[in-house]
Amino acid sequence: MAISTEERDIIRKILDMVEQDTTHMLDDVMINPVANYTDPEQLRNETEILFREFPLIIAHSSQLAAAGDFLTHDDTGVPILATRDDAGEVRAYLNVCRHRGARIEDLPCGNSRRFTCPYHAWSYDLDGSLRGMPQPVGFDPVDRSERGLVELPAFERFGLIWVVPSPRTETIDIDAWLAPMADHLDGLELGNHVVFERWALHKDMSWRLALEGFQESYHFCSAHRHTACSNYLDNQSLWLNYRPHVRHAVPLPSVLELRDLPEDDWNYRKNFMTQNYLFPANFIQAMTDHVYIHTIIPTGPGTCAFHCMMLVPEQPGSEKAQRYWRKNYDVVRTVFDEDFAIGEGIQKGFGAGANEDVIFGRYEIGLHHGQKAINDAIAGKIAVPTK
Ligand code: FES
Ligand SMILES: [Fe+2]
Repeated sequence: MAISTEERDIIRKILDMVEQDTTHMLDDVMINPVANYTDPEQLRNETEILFREFPLIIAHSSQLAAAGDFLTHDDTGVPILATRDDAGEVRAYLNVCRHRGARIEDLPCGNSRRFTCPYHAWSYDLDGSLRGMPQPVGFDPVDRSERGLVELPAFERFGLIWVVPSPRTETIDIDAWLAPMADHLDGLELGNHVVFERWALHKDMSWRLALEGFQESYHFCSAHRHTACSNYLDNQSLWLNYRPHVRHAVPLPSVLELRDLPEDDWNYRKNFMTQNYLFPANFIQAMTDHVYIHTIIPTGPGTCAFHCMMLVPEQPGSEKAQRYWRKNYDVVRTVFDEDFAIGEGIQKGFGAGANEDVIFGRYEIGLHHGQKAINDAIAGKIAVPTK
């Protein structure tokens, strides 16, 4: 398959920068106040805006493969119950009973034709409608049709399930929101992938610090000296800013061999790791032959949850395939642990008051784009489009 114009341009620019012995740089450094990582008021704004009004990835499509499959998700602070209805549509609801507010479903996942509240056994269909209650005469004349589960915007795109964690009256245009990244993400065919591993970690660091680990590659050859460093060209990334989303292309050393090939024979995927940032907190990290999905969620001042999935193109059919993917998984867990150890140390250092700000270098470009987008969203200058 011919590569896209965008990918051809990325390769050309990388080869050109290597040739010129330079790297992708902005005109100036950026100073970011430490308060952005520590201030409870800042976190309140981030939670209320970024984590209530924008889509977050909560699952791979295969986790809700059949009608009645469900999962619950709580780390945003909003109790979410997601399911697939009989029409095959993914739906998400507040996991809260409309009688007196009990939590309806407590299991992390399962399959059910109906959700029944444990408190007084009001029951709800997969489409959220209130189906029944014991001794209904006691609730006359309440209109049952107005007591369905409160629905959250939910979408299935690129084989992933996205939820906006607050009820909305307008219809969100998810395709317009994701459009700048759609061709590249479609091409990954994540819907045909399988989940090899899925894990969640809770860390003592601002969600922003966890985010930043994916937004620059300047740290690879120090923080990951014995792991990721040799896999990539040192500090040679390129960023495409689709504000507020960002495509961060990190070249493998093998990209240099493309210099000797006609452009029509260039292959992007084999020569790059791509960290696709989908605002505000999702990463689709495409490796040469598999993909990681990360969603990073603040759980308090200086704490966050890191939800991750490793997707592989097919169910490992042999022990050899199993071993191959397991080895990749082990390496990535080690690399992430290296990042998290540093992030938790930074958070502690913030508390010590040594710095009033941090500096984003001219080539730590994803940090600049990410912080500016967060600032703009909090200021009301970025919103999800509606229909
Ligand atoms: S709170 Fe759910 S049935 Fe009463
Ligand atoms: Fe890292």
